[in-house]
Amino acid sequence: MDSIIIQGGGELQGQIPIAGAKNACLTLMPATLLSEEPLTLTNVPRLSDIATMSQLLQSLGAEVSSLADGQVVAMSSHGADNPVADYEIVRKMRASNLVLGPLLARHGRAVVSLPGGCAIGARPMDLHIHGLEALGAKIELKDGYLHADAPKGLKGARIALRFASVGATENIMMAASLAKGTTELVNAAREPEIVDLANCLRAMGAEIEGAGSGTITIEGVDRLHGATHPVIADRIELGTYMLAPVIAGGEVELLGGRIGLLESFCEKLDEAGISVSETKNGLRVSCKNGRVRAVNVKTGVFPGFPTDLQAQMMALLCTADGESVLEETIFENRFMHAPELIRMGAQIDVQGGTATVTGVERLKGAPVMATDLRASVSLILAALAAEGETVVSRVYHLDRGYERVEEKLGACGARIERVKT
Ligand code: UD1
Repeated sequence: MDSIIIQGGGELQGQIPIAGAKNACLTLMPATLLSEEPLTLTNVPRLSDIATMSQLLQSLGAEVSSLADGQVVAMSSHGADNPVADYEIVRKMRASNLVLGPLLARHGRAVVSLPGGCAIGARPMDLHIHGLEALGAKIELKDGYLHADAPKGLKGARIALRFASVGATENIMMAASLAKGTTELVNAAREPEIVDLANCLRAMGAEIEGAGSGTITIEGVDRLHGATHPVIADRIELGTYMLAPVIAGGEVELLGGRIGLLESFCEKLDEAGISVSETKNGLRVSCKNGRVRAVNVKTGVFPGFPTDLQAQMMALLCTADGESVLEETIFENRFMHAPELIRMGAQIDVQGGTATVTGVERLKGAPVMATDLRASVSLILAALAAEGETVVSRVYHLDRGYERVEEKLGACGARIERVKT
């Protein structure tokens, strides 16, 4: 199992290229199941989650090839004949549940293992089920698997989600693309990844309006055709690396970044006294004025502050001047990085969904453990400015969502290396 060792101190200077969005790619890949013709994605990030999704699609009978050093994924579902998504693959990654809608639309039948709990919370699938049942599917839970049937095909409907779930919106959008008639999805998620999925489905011939707003209208079509689609930039990777020069000091240009992907996050940075400017090729972030100001952060659905940047923001606020309150509203158990940051000298008090962080002058290096994807990168960020050495173990979590983290930070002067332990 790999660990990452960081020697803290030292400013960052340079450029970091932002990869394609993991979360967009994980919903774009299952869209291949909706068509007999090939779907090719470009600007694909090289991550273990993408490899897991490739493995899942192959198990369903799709052909998946990785080209251009992993940055292009060419898929064909012409021969995809297996509607069963096996527990052994699904349990590795919750996003595997995004094959449910496409399989159902394609075969009139899908058998998909429930993903099980994950470290950050229970994460049920009731909204996915409710939406697909509204489209006419019959869904039963047997032996840990969702058995979904729609032998006569799916039929458009009006669906109002009780919560704007990203995954449920994606599954419903994909299934409704091949349903008969019109689907109106109310209280839909508005994340940029939803807009990217709609753009790709439209390139495949789907009729979708309103993606990015709270109401999405999908006019079902008989068939979808092939397409080539570039994956949007990863706003979470962008936000993560925007914090690196703020924590470590220095100035970094994030290639491919734009403020529009992260407005609420950029507003918080502004409130904390951090300067972000747009450049020809992306965004520049610099920190030259010492400690940042403490700020309060409440996560929310898009366009709110992303839950996937809460751990990284906490790493920053550990050394801010004053007391910050972070409120997590999306997942019930997403402060597992707090005890690890406390091992590095942070002052954090967690009460339920709220963490109060009292900034200290400086953190100290320590052996720490990654508990989930975003938690692991928050420890790396904290370590950049901590005194001495930090060893982050269990970095397989990190490899799920950050490509070549040690190369990207190392190129800007961070003293960071990966070791096999
Ligand atoms: C996606 C992202 C994840 C991000 C999250 C919130 C992917 C692959 N993952 O996850 O990185 O943190 O959005 O921005 O895109 N819920 C239910 N019932 C459901 C579905 C969800 O109660 O049927 C709850 C969940 O338990 C959670 C909340 O809704 O508390 C948000 O979940 P959702 O928006 O569905 O997140 P994901 O699509 O799983």
